[in-house]
Amino acid sequence: MKVQAVKGMNDVTPESERGFLNTTLWQGLGAIAAEHLESYGFRHVWAPVVEPTELFARGIGEGTDIVSKEMYTFEDRGGRSLTLRPEGTAGIVRAYIEHGLYRSAPIQKWWYMGPMFRAEAPQEGRYRQFYQIGAEFLGVAEPAADAELLMMLSKLLERLNIGGVRLRLNSLGDPASRDAYREKLKAYLDAHRGDLSEATERRIDANPLRFLDSKDPKDLALKDAAPDILDSLNERSTAHFDAVRGLLDEAEIPFERDKTLVRGLDYYSDTTFEFTTDALGAQDAVLGGGRYDGLVEQLGGPATPAVGFAAGVERLAMLLEKTMGVPKAGPDLYIVPMDGHVGAALALADAVREWAPFAIEVDVSGRKVKASMKRADKIGARHAIVIGEQEVRTQRGNLKDLGVSSTAEVLLSGEALAAAIDPSEES
Ligand code: HAM
Repeated sequence: MKVQAVKGMNDVTPESERGFLNTTLWQGLGAIAAEHLESYGFRHVWAPVVEPTELFARGIGEGTDIVSKEMYTFEDRGGRSLTLRPEGTAGIVRAYIEHGLYRSAPIQKWWYMGPMFRAEAPQEGRYRQFYQIGAEFLGVAEPAADAELLMMLSKLLERLNIGGVRLRLNSLGDPASRDAYREKLKAYLDAHRGDLSEATERRIDANPLRFLDSKDPKDLALKDAAPDILDSLNERSTAHFDAVRGLLDEAEIPFERDKTLVRGLDYYSDTTFEFTTDALGAQDAVLGGGRYDGLVEQLGGPATPAVGFAAGVERLAMLLEKTMGVPKAGPDLYIVPMDGHVGAALALADAVREWAPFAIEVDVSGRKVKASMKRADKIGARHAIVIGEQEVRTQRGNLKDLGVSSTAEVLLSGEALAAAIDPSEES
């Protein structure tokens, strides 16, 4: 019996028939995102994929969907409860505290990319293992940190040529403001018992804010008239949100205030945001994030402000595929040995690699030249050259440009071939 991948977990391969799960697309995306984040001073960190379960329970919140029903939790051989990380922020904060950075270098700008795991019902754009590119900016409370992050993100989408994305922005205020709002919302919902969805009615006392992101028609009908959280914010939170909005206006970054944006993780305070697009269907959030000034303290560190985001790589790749298609990335040079000269072909490939990091494939399959050339074409190689008896003797060969089907004589040295296949040398 064939073993199959776990439902909701994908392979990303060079030949993927589902275009957005294509290696070339992911490599391009990762490289642009990395360069972009580094250009804003973020440094790459790698944190474990597995953490103590308690980290997420305390960090993300026991009452959230993620913690209450979506975590992959297991006991290790020593009986400890471990969990595959459902998101990156809690682990980053744990690392920040564990290494004592709040003492030595409290301002840290970190980015990460890697797999996250949530046992959600799989559907288009929603997977059980998915990848995030994210960044966390720790140690700065100023609204300029929030605004700069949003400016960076809108530039990133621009660089990736992803259009049609809306920035939705909200503020959840500090915990005291949010508590005051929760009471107001509870009173409003209580007054409408009987007209609300069953799920909302069940959660009125435990988690009334969930009403705000309900998509049930009954709840939708009552959202417009619901109290607005901005009316419950204290002076500091109001000033913070005003400053963020002011900086975005100044930078001419369009955004929509969305009073229903509450996010699915408990650690947020003040600014929250999401970039969404209709091009993705039901799973419309490309990225999300916000400020979480209480999390470091909640996880055992000193009070430390922070703000961050995470983007879904699959969703970014889907959008990229729509605009640029699936890129073909065959080798720069395909070397076809003939007359048993595979040794000379391998040596020549290494000689070229010494000049530049070209992708070179030697056909070591021992098949006929015609079949090798067919494969070179199929995989999208840019150039091909046959190395046989005559080529080895004369140290010259015919380099075929497979793009324009032209042939040029070249010396069989690493330097000469490297120059001949270098796209910047082509006229
Ligand atoms: P999140 O909104 O849960 O936030 O996830 C961020 C992004 O990850 C989403 O906008 C979406 O693109 C992608 N994503 C989430 N779940 C799935 C899934 N099941 N399948 C595919 N893609 C998914 C966080 O994770 C926070 N840690 C973000 C953050 C960082 N806040 C502050 N710092």
